[in-house]
Amino acid sequence: MDNVCTRIKGLPVLAACVMAAASYPSIPADLTTPTQQRLAINGANAVSVGWNTYEQLSQPCVQYGTSSDSLTLEACSTSSETYPTSRTYSNAVTLPGLTPATTYYYKIVSTNSSVEHFVSPRTAGDKTPFAMSIVIDLGVYGADGYTIEMDQTKRDTIPSIMPSLNHTTIGRLATNINDYELVIHPGDFAYADDWFEKPKNLLDGRNAYEAILEQFYQQLAPIAGRKAYMASPGNHEADCEEIDYTTFLCPEGQKNFTDFMNRFGRTMPTAFASTSSNNIAKVSANNAKMLANPPFWYSFEYGMVHVIMFDTETDFANAPDGPGGSAGLDGGPFGAPNQQLQFIEADLASVDRTVTPWVIAGGHRPWYSTGGSSNECSPCQAAFEPLLYKYGVDLAIFGHVHNSQRFQPANNSVADPNGLNDPKAPMYIVAGGAGNIEGLSSVGSNVSFNAFAYADDFSYATVSFKDANNLQVDFIRSSTGEILDSSVLYKSHTEQFVVQ
Ligand SMILES: *[C@@H]1O[C@H](CO)[C@@H](O)[C@H](O)[C@H]1NC(C)=O
Ligand SMILES: *[C@@H]1O[C@H](CO)[C@@H](O)[C@H](O)[C@H]1NC(C)=O
Ligand SMILES: *[C@@H]1O[C@H](CO)[C@@H](O)[C@H](O)[C@H]1NC(C)=O
Ligand SMILES: *[C@@H]1O[C@H](CO)[C@@H](O)[C@H](O)[C@H]1NC(C)=O
Ligand SMILES: *[C@@H]1O[C@H](CO)[C@@H](O)[C@H](O)[C@H]1NC(C)=O
Repeated sequence: MDNVCTRIKGLPVLAACVMAAASYPSIPADLTTPTQQRLAINGANAVSVGWNTYEQLSQPCVQYGTSSDSLTLEACSTSSETYPTSRTYSNAVTLPGLTPATTYYYKIVSTNSSVEHFVSPRTAGDKTPFAMSIVIDLGVYGADGYTIEMDQTKRDTIPSIMPSLNHTTIGRLATNINDYELVIHPGDFAYADDWFEKPKNLLDGRNAYEAILEQFYQQLAPIAGRKAYMASPGNHEADCEEIDYTTFLCPEGQKNFTDFMNRFGRTMPTAFASTSSNNIAKVSANNAKMLANPPFWYSFEYGMVHVIMFDTETDFANAPDGPGGSAGLDGGPFGAPNQQLQFIEADLASVDRTVTPWVIAGGHRPWYSTGGSSNECSPCQAAFEPLLYKYGVDLAIFGHVHNSQRFQPANNSVADPNGLNDPKAPMYIVAGGAGNIEGLSSVGSNVSFNAFAYADDFSYATVSFKDANNLQVDFIRSSTGEILDSSVLYKSHTEQFVVQ
């Protein structure tokens, strides 16, 4: 059956492939069982815990403490929400008042849950070196997603991932769990909107979409339930366009970032209050907090870095996924006119480099990419690049193109003459090779200031903050752990507030 149908697209195939249907994960007998756990940094001393359940909870609660056998603190909310085509409820609780950089144990309150742990965020201004992992364009693994050669005899223990995931990006994140402190994922989760790629799903799109989301976030939970996992939107959080010949089947829950908002809207932060001694910075940070719109655009601070996450899909001129946009998705808008750009300006203007010397920006669609102009988002460049340059963003991180790329620092498509030695322009990377059903994108045509490009296997990046002046970017081959490319950006960071 499968052979007849496999990857043949078009209507005539429908009739031959109606036997099977979506493969939902089984529902636990205890409906309070937490699934799809995910943590996020939610404030200067706060971590949010998100998870899904197969029944609505009247009062989601999390017990926590600094000893695994004495969870003396408890935080609760009344936030247990769903949307029409989902069969789960998304729950969110924020744990406030955490002592920085401390191991906490937590138990999502349920008759069937276990004690897990995380390390609380570093205080802004803590200059201890640390690394973050960058994962973008990561899809579900297995029958409804992508597969690779695997050795089923291998088993992971900490965290406990499916053995078959060992040789994927999730597997590498598990193996390297002690090498990074948080994960940034600017867009394209699960690829559930690609359900139509599997013929068995063709007449069961609504269920297939939800089934893939459930599988994916369950696969991610060993990582996202251990490390803060910071999300922002990509086109696959809104796509229906790709199922052109079955558009009438596109479920409501698939459109307009519905699942993404339900899942991450209450766990991502807004912006932190400034810890600068400068009053203008405090006012600007406060404005940013009011203009922020998580999970679409927001910021946070962690040790020596200020991270701003922005939305390349909607809410700026000619946004590709916005009303009338080139992707035809008619998503958003999610803020008032110009709100996102006002947020970015206020947020970047507030950054005191004596507190957080490094500024990193994460978005989904790049404007610098190998492989030709169809990989580059020119409306994104027009909207965002001037702000990133003006406020001296050090590193800009993108995905969307399914491979790994590094560029010399550049502005306006011109390489900065200083290269990696104290440039004024941001350094750019694409880290979209994590693995998904659509496969890897070939490297394609070069861009003159490209320094590295790789599309032979699944890969992701880590960014290591060595000290106030040196940042290291490594690209890692997921299956082997091999470092594919390593570079160090030096910045003098002599200005307290960068405006150029
Ligand atoms: C309890 O949770 C585990 C894993 O989370 C699950 O496999 C099991 O089915 C659950 N048990 C019940 C009774 O729901
Ligand atoms: C997962 O795979 C890696 C490399 O492929 C291997 O070194 C490691 O031992 C595996 N983990 C387990 C727990 O088997
Ligand atoms: C998408 O959702 C936003 C926020 O809920 C809403 O304002 C907007 O009108 C929606 N767009 C469409 C096309 O339904
Ligand atoms: C930086 O690039 C923008 C276009 O994105 C351009 O308008 C601006 O003039 C450039 N600035 C410098 C100093 O080159
Ligand atoms: C692109 O060209 C630059 C400059 O010649 C070179 O350093 C880089 O390796 C090339 N990238 C690829 C992917 O071939």
